[in-house]
Amino acid sequence: MQFSLERMAERYFGVRPLFIGPGVKTGMPILYDNPREVGPDRIADAVGAYDLYPGASIVVDLGAGTTTMAAFLSGRLVYVDGFALGGHHVTMDIARGLNARVSDAERIKTLYGSVISGGSDERDMITVPPLSDDEREQAQLISRATLVSIIKPRVEEILEMVRDRLANSPLSADRRGHVILTGGASQLTGLPDLAARILGRQVRVARPLGIAGAPDAAKGAAFAVAAGLLVYPQAAHLEHFESRRKRQLMTGTGGYFSRVGLWLRESF
Ligand SMILES: Nc1ncnc2c1ncn2[C@@H]1O[C@H](COP(=O)(O)OP(=O)(O)OP(=O)(O)O)[C@@H](O)[C@H]1O
Ligand SMILES: [Mg+2]
Repeated sequence: MQFSLERMAERYFGVRPLFIGPGVKTGMPILYDNPREVGPDRIADAVGAYDLYPGASIVVDLGAGTTTMAAFLSGRLVYVDGFALGGHHVTMDIARGLNARVSDAERIKTLYGSVISGGSDERDMITVPPLSDDEREQAQLISRATLVSIIKPRVEEILEMVRDRLANSPLSADRRGHVILTGGASQLTGLPDLAARILGRQVRVARPLGIAGAPDAAKGAAFAVAAGLLVYPQAAHLEHFESRRKRQLMTGTGGYFSRVGLWLRESF
């Protein structure tokens, strides 16, 4: 797999790709018996958050099919976890709840998706195209309040799972730990407040801002990883791989890979 991806990058982009994985030093010791088992995406999330809150942070990455967490204390990655629920489940709930196509549900979610109800929700109407192309079927109008009532329970379920997992983590007793939300599904309106209430911690959403010339669409949280990888070669002046023999743990200290933290900070 790695070989095919490497060939693809060389052929189509004319560059040698850098794979984030065992042997790449991040400057963050991983307190796991087998650091190789810790997913690189979670390590990247944690290194980025470390620059924001060096004391203690919990990154919650709300993706499409998964929600993952990475927590660290005093610069050490102490906990990673995850489960198979994410933004796509919200979309499927909307499709089922409104009897709509998945593509329409996805569009409605990203345009109007929210977990807070406001004063005019009952009157704010959203058009839902019919499921079939049959001309006799008409578009339905639903209120924003109805949409919130579909989205919110699933998001609460996801956040409650995060809360329960964190209760079993080394961060459970440490109230300092800020929660940093990222990933595409972190963009739902009102999510930080709901998350703060359920998790009982300070919450903020992190997203990349730092790429000149990037379209606005690429500044969303879903592009955090891609943005970080684009910035990466500018921050890291030379690529560094340890020989297979020398590779031990992903536990580098300082040195050039601590600069990875720099681009992550600037990306958020
Ligand atoms: N503006 C938005 N509001 C709400 N949800 C959004 C928005 N934009 C994207 N999403 C959702 O974010 C999810 C995709 O997020 P992301 O790109 O982080 O996932 P992924 O990394 O591809 O998935 P995974 O991490 O599960 O492998 C989708 O469910 C999508 O519907
Ligand atoms: Mg993801």
